[in-house]
Amino acid sequence: MKSLGEYIKEAEEKGVAIGHFNISNLEGLHGIYNAAKKLNVPVIIGLSEGEEAFVGKEEAFSLINAIRERDDYPIFLNADHHYNFDSVKGAIDAGYDAAIIDAVKLPLEENIELTKKCVDYAKEFSEKNNKDILIEAELGFIGTSSKLLDKLPDGVGEDTMTKAEDAKYFVEKTGINLLAPSVGNVHGMVKGGNPKLNITRIKEIRESSGVPLVLHGGSGISDEDFKNAIKAGISIIHINTEIRVAYKEALEEYLKENPNDVAPYKILHGAVDAIEKVVEARLRLFNNLE
Ligand code: 13P
Repeated sequence: MKSLGEYIKEAEEKGVAIGHFNISNLEGLHGIYNAAKKLNVPVIIGLSEGEEAFVGKEEAFSLINAIRERDDYPIFLNADHHYNFDSVKGAIDAGYDAAIIDAVKLPLEENIELTKKCVDYAKEFSEKNNKDILIEAELGFIGTSSKLLDKLPDGVGEDTMTKAEDAKYFVEKTGINLLAPSVGNVHGMVKGGNPKLNITRIKEIRESSGVPLVLHGGSGISDEDFKNAIKAGISIIHINTEIRVAYKEALEEYLKENPNDVAPYKILHGAVDAIEKVVEARLRLFNNLE
């Protein structure tokens, strides 16, 4: 099977983006995979440190790997927003295909040093194990939580948007494979609407950095912005809050209507379907399948 890096290259050539969706449990994985398989498109499953602590690193790998091997399907596993070397190393050692070292809170030179250490480890591990593990890093600030927000988080705005020249410097110094910029995107869904993306900035960063770009904070972004962002150089798009909301609402509705039910596989069935619906709509858009 082709590596994630090869699928990303192919996506860029086709002018589409690969969907990245976070999971906290098996229901999430089933909902996401059902949608991807229906459309026959590659998909990335992400687990943040919190999600991973709940699911288990090795458990997450076993679940994704079981699907990949059984169906010979391009489903990949990403360590989303890992904050230190040991946690990135742990994910790589467990069999993940990619990891994000998120050191944006550190001073730039310390961020570069830590990111480079992760890149070097991924390369060494890839060579030893005949793999192609990708390391991504974030530059600029886009908030931290996949949740419903009353307002834009402090520190997200024009001032903390990634600059094209900084992106070039950061990629040259670290050797990362993928870059997650701040271009008007924000983690979570802002009540009253998310800001618009800066499409020109995406184009500039793609050109200056020379690596594929990942758009985080996909929930709440308009279809038009997504389409233009993909054209400008985005190759992977992350969605989490929209899935969490769909899961919770479906669960609440079921429990309200069936207060005496106790079988988890019945209670949670609607939540799987609700996640599938959200993911299918996003994958259709990202893969130009409308
Ligand atoms: P949203 O929760 O805004 O979709 O962002 C998800 C994300 O970027 C995870 O890395």
